[in-house]
Amino acid sequence: MLISGSGTNLQAIIDACHNDAVPAQVVAVISNQPQAYGLNRARAASIPAQVLDHRDFAGRAAFDAELQNLVDTFVPDLVVLAGFMRILGENFATHYTGRMLNIHPSLLPDYPGLDTHARALADGKDQHGATVHFVTPELDAGPIIIQGRVPVLANDTAETLAQRVHEVEYRIYPQAIAWFAHGRLVLQHGQARLDGRPITP
Ligand code: GAR
Repeated sequence: MLISGSGTNLQAIIDACHNDAVPAQVVAVISNQPQAYGLNRARAASIPAQVLDHRDFAGRAAFDAELQNLVDTFVPDLVVLAGFMRILGENFATHYTGRMLNIHPSLLPDYPGLDTHARALADGKDQHGATVHFVTPELDAGPIIIQGRVPVLANDTAETLAQRVHEVEYRIYPQAIAWFAHGRLVLQHGQARLDGRPITP
Protein backbone atom coordinates (compact mmCIF):
# COMPACT_ATOMS: atom_id res chain seq x y z
CA MET A 1 0.00 0.00 0.00
CA LEU A 2 1.15 3.52 -0.77
CA ILE A 3 0.32 6.31 1.67
CA SER A 4 1.30 9.88 2.48
CA GLY A 5 -0.52 10.64 5.70
CA SER A 6 -2.48 9.42 8.67
CA GLY A 7 -3.34 6.07 7.14
CA THR A 8 -6.84 5.61 8.50
CA ASN A 9 -7.82 3.81 5.28
CA LEU A 10 -4.71 1.68 5.66
CA GLN A 11 -5.90 0.82 9.18
CA ALA A 12 -9.37 -0.11 7.96
CA ILE A 13 -7.81 -2.42 5.35
CA ILE A 14 -5.35 -3.99 7.82
CA ASP A 15 -8.27 -4.64 10.18
CA ALA A 16 -10.42 -6.10 7.39
CA CYS A 17 -7.57 -8.46 6.41
CA HIS A 18 -7.15 -9.54 10.03
CA ASN A 19 -10.81 -10.30 10.57
CA ASP A 20 -11.01 -12.20 7.27
CA ALA A 21 -13.46 -9.76 5.67
CA VAL A 22 -10.73 -9.36 3.03
CA PRO A 23 -8.85 -12.54 2.03
CA ALA A 24 -5.56 -10.72 1.55
CA GLN A 25 -2.47 -9.57 3.35
CA VAL A 26 -0.82 -6.16 3.32
CA VAL A 27 2.75 -7.09 2.39
CA ALA A 28 4.29 -3.62 2.59
CA VAL A 29 3.51 0.03 3.24
CA ILE A 30 5.49 2.71 1.44
CA SER A 31 5.21 6.43 2.13
CA ASN A 32 6.72 9.39 0.30
CA GLN A 33 6.41 11.34 3.57
CA PRO A 34 8.84 10.32 6.35
CA GLN A 35 6.45 11.63 9.04
CA ALA A 36 3.34 9.84 7.79
CA TYR A 37 1.52 8.41 10.82
CA GLY A 38 0.41 5.46 8.71
CA LEU A 39 3.98 4.13 8.91
CA ASN A 40 3.44 3.64 12.66
CA ARG A 41 0.20 1.79 11.95
CA ALA A 42 2.04 -0.55 9.59
CA ARG A 43 4.84 -1.23 12.06
CA ALA A 44 2.32 -1.83 14.85
CA ALA A 45 0.81 -4.52 12.62
CA SER A 46 4.27 -6.00 11.85
CA ILE A 47 4.04 -4.93 8.20
CA PRO A 48 7.28 -3.78 6.52
CA ALA A 49 7.13 0.03 6.29
CA GLN A 50 9.44 2.05 4.12
CA VAL A 51 9.96 5.67 3.16
CA LEU A 52 10.79 6.83 -0.33
CA ASP A 53 10.99 10.59 -0.08
CA HIS A 54 10.20 12.26 -3.40
CA ARG A 55 12.39 15.22 -2.36
CA ASP A 56 15.43 12.96 -2.71
CA PHE A 57 14.85 12.65 -6.45
CA ALA A 58 15.62 15.02 -9.29
CA GLY A 59 12.21 14.67 -10.86
CA ARG A 60 8.99 12.73 -11.16
CA ALA A 61 10.37 10.11 -13.57
CA ALA A 62 13.30 9.22 -11.30
CA PHE A 63 11.03 8.96 -8.25
CA ASP A 64 8.47 6.85 -10.10
CA ALA A 65 11.17 4.48 -11.40
CA GLU A 66 12.59 3.90 -7.94
CA LEU A 67 9.13 3.53 -6.44
CA GLN A 68 8.31 0.91 -9.06
CA ASN A 69 11.51 -0.99 -8.23
CA LEU A 70 10.70 -0.88 -4.54
CA VAL A 71 7.07 -1.93 -4.97
CA ASP A 72 8.08 -4.80 -7.26
CA THR A 73 10.48 -6.22 -4.66
CA PHE A 74 7.36 -7.14 -2.65
CA VAL A 75 5.72 -8.83 -5.67
CA PRO A 76 2.24 -7.53 -4.81
CA ASP A 77 -0.88 -8.84 -6.53
CA LEU A 78 -2.45 -5.43 -6.06
CA VAL A 79 -1.09 -1.94 -5.41
CA VAL A 80 -3.41 0.09 -3.19
CA LEU A 81 -3.14 3.88 -3.07
CA ALA A 82 -4.62 5.14 0.17
CA GLY A 83 -4.12 8.86 0.60
CA PHE A 84 -0.98 8.77 -1.55
CA MET A 85 -0.64 12.42 -2.49
CA ARG A 86 1.81 12.21 -5.39
CA ILE A 87 0.76 12.19 -9.00
CA LEU A 88 2.18 9.08 -10.65
CA GLY A 89 3.42 9.24 -14.22
CA GLU A 90 2.19 7.30 -17.21
CA ASN A 91 4.91 4.62 -17.05
CA PHE A 92 4.08 3.81 -13.44
CA ALA A 93 0.34 3.70 -14.09
CA THR A 94 0.83 1.52 -17.17
CA HIS A 95 3.12 -0.91 -15.35
CA TYR A 96 0.35 -1.64 -12.84
CA THR A 97 -2.63 -1.49 -15.20
CA GLY A 98 -5.46 -3.58 -13.81
CA ARG A 99 -3.68 -4.14 -10.51
CA MET A 100 -3.65 -0.70 -8.91
CA LEU A 101 -6.56 0.93 -7.08
CA ASN A 102 -7.06 4.42 -5.67
CA ILE A 103 -9.61 5.96 -3.36
CA HIS A 104 -10.65 9.53 -4.02
CA PRO A 105 -12.75 11.67 -1.68
CA SER A 106 -15.49 12.70 -4.09
CA LEU A 107 -18.16 11.22 -6.29
CA LEU A 108 -16.03 11.09 -9.42
CA PRO A 109 -16.16 12.41 -12.07
CA ASP A 110 -17.04 15.35 -9.79
CA TYR A 111 -14.08 17.03 -8.14
CA PRO A 112 -10.89 15.32 -9.25
CA GLY A 113 -7.81 16.81 -7.59
CA LEU A 114 -7.59 18.53 -4.22
CA ASP A 115 -9.94 20.24 -1.71
CA THR A 116 -12.88 18.10 -2.74
CA HIS A 117 -14.95 18.67 0.43
CA ALA A 118 -14.64 22.46 0.32
CA ARG A 119 -15.51 22.46 -3.38
CA ALA A 120 -18.62 20.31 -2.85
CA LEU A 121 -19.75 22.67 -0.08
CA ALA A 122 -19.06 25.77 -2.15
CA ASP A 123 -21.20 24.33 -4.95
CA GLY A 124 -24.09 23.69 -2.56
CA LYS A 125 -24.15 19.94 -3.31
CA ASP A 126 -26.58 17.92 -1.25
CA GLN A 127 -24.61 14.71 -1.75
CA HIS A 128 -20.92 13.94 -1.61
CA GLY A 129 -18.86 10.83 -1.12
CA ALA A 130 -15.89 8.73 -2.15
CA THR A 131 -14.90 6.62 -5.13
CA VAL A 132 -12.66 3.58 -5.54
CA HIS A 133 -11.33 3.24 -9.06
CA PHE A 134 -8.67 1.50 -11.11
CA VAL A 135 -5.71 3.80 -11.68
CA THR A 136 -5.01 4.94 -15.23
CA PRO A 137 -2.55 7.60 -16.38
CA GLU A 138 -5.23 10.31 -16.30
CA LEU A 139 -5.57 11.73 -12.77
CA ASP A 140 -8.62 10.47 -10.83
CA ALA A 141 -10.25 9.31 -14.06
CA GLY A 142 -9.84 5.53 -14.11
CA PRO A 143 -12.78 3.11 -14.33
CA ILE A 144 -15.00 3.38 -11.27
CA ILE A 145 -15.45 0.30 -9.06
CA ILE A 146 -17.59 1.48 -6.16
CA GLN A 147 -18.84 4.74 -4.70
CA GLY A 148 -20.15 5.60 -1.26
CA ARG A 149 -22.55 8.53 -0.82
CA VAL A 150 -23.15 10.74 2.18
CA PRO A 151 -25.60 13.62 2.63
CA VAL A 152 -24.22 17.13 2.91
CA LEU A 153 -25.79 18.74 5.99
CA ALA A 154 -26.71 22.41 6.36
CA ASN A 155 -24.10 23.13 9.02
CA ASP A 156 -21.28 21.03 7.51
CA THR A 157 -17.74 22.33 7.34
CA ALA A 158 -15.09 20.77 5.13
CA GLU A 159 -13.89 18.94 8.27
CA THR A 160 -17.25 17.47 9.32
CA LEU A 161 -17.97 16.46 5.74
CA ALA A 162 -14.53 14.86 5.41
CA GLN A 163 -15.23 12.81 8.55
CA ARG A 164 -18.51 11.53 7.13
CA VAL A 165 -16.81 10.67 3.83
CA HIS A 166 -14.04 8.82 5.71
CA GLU A 167 -16.64 6.53 7.27
CA VAL A 168 -17.83 5.38 3.84
CA GLU A 169 -14.23 5.04 2.65
CA TYR A 170 -13.60 2.50 5.41
CA ARG A 171 -16.45 0.39 4.00
CA ILE A 172 -15.99 0.68 0.25
CA TYR A 173 -12.21 0.25 0.03
CA PRO A 174 -12.07 -3.11 1.85
CA GLN A 175 -15.08 -4.19 -0.24
CA ALA A 176 -13.30 -3.42 -3.53
CA ILE A 177 -10.13 -5.17 -2.37
CA ALA A 178 -12.12 -8.23 -1.28
CA TRP A 179 -13.73 -8.41 -4.73
CA PHE A 180 -10.29 -8.24 -6.34
CA ALA A 181 -8.84 -10.84 -3.97
CA HIS A 182 -11.70 -13.21 -4.79
CA GLY A 183 -11.00 -12.75 -8.51
CA ARG A 184 -14.43 -11.19 -9.01
CA LEU A 185 -13.14 -7.74 -10.00
CA VAL A 186 -11.05 -7.20 -13.13
CA LEU A 187 -10.14 -4.44 -15.53
CA GLN A 188 -10.88 -5.67 -19.05
CA HIS A 189 -10.56 -3.58 -22.21
CA GLY A 190 -10.49 -0.44 -20.07
CA GLN A 191 -13.67 -1.39 -18.24
CA ALA A 192 -14.11 -2.42 -14.60
CA ARG A 193 -16.04 -5.69 -14.40
CA LEU A 194 -17.52 -7.46 -11.40
CA ASP A 195 -18.51 -11.10 -11.89
CA GLY A 196 -18.09 -10.58 -15.63
CA ARG A 197 -20.50 -7.65 -15.82
CA PRO A 198 -19.44 -4.05 -16.51
CA ILE A 199 -19.68 -1.80 -13.47
CA THR A 200 -21.86 1.21 -14.15
CA PRO A 201 -21.86 3.59 -11.19
C1 GAR B 1 -8.65 9.87 2.14
O1 GAR B 1 -9.81 10.64 2.41
C2 GAR B 1 -8.50 9.64 0.66
O2 GAR B 1 -9.73 9.56 -0.02
C3 GAR B 1 -7.76 10.88 0.24
O3 GAR B 1 -6.84 11.11 1.26
C4 GAR B 1 -7.39 10.68 2.50
C5 GAR B 1 -6.35 9.83 3.21
O4 GAR B 1 -6.73 9.61 4.54
N1 GAR B 1 -7.11 10.67 -1.01
C6 GAR B 1 -6.88 11.63 -1.89
O5 GAR B 1 -7.20 12.78 -1.71
C7 GAR B 1 -6.19 11.18 -3.17
N2 GAR B 1 -6.23 12.20 -4.15
P1 GAR B 1 -5.99 8.49 5.38
O6 GAR B 1 -4.48 8.72 5.23
O7 GAR B 1 -6.43 8.72 6.79
O8 GAR B 1 -6.41 7.17 4.84
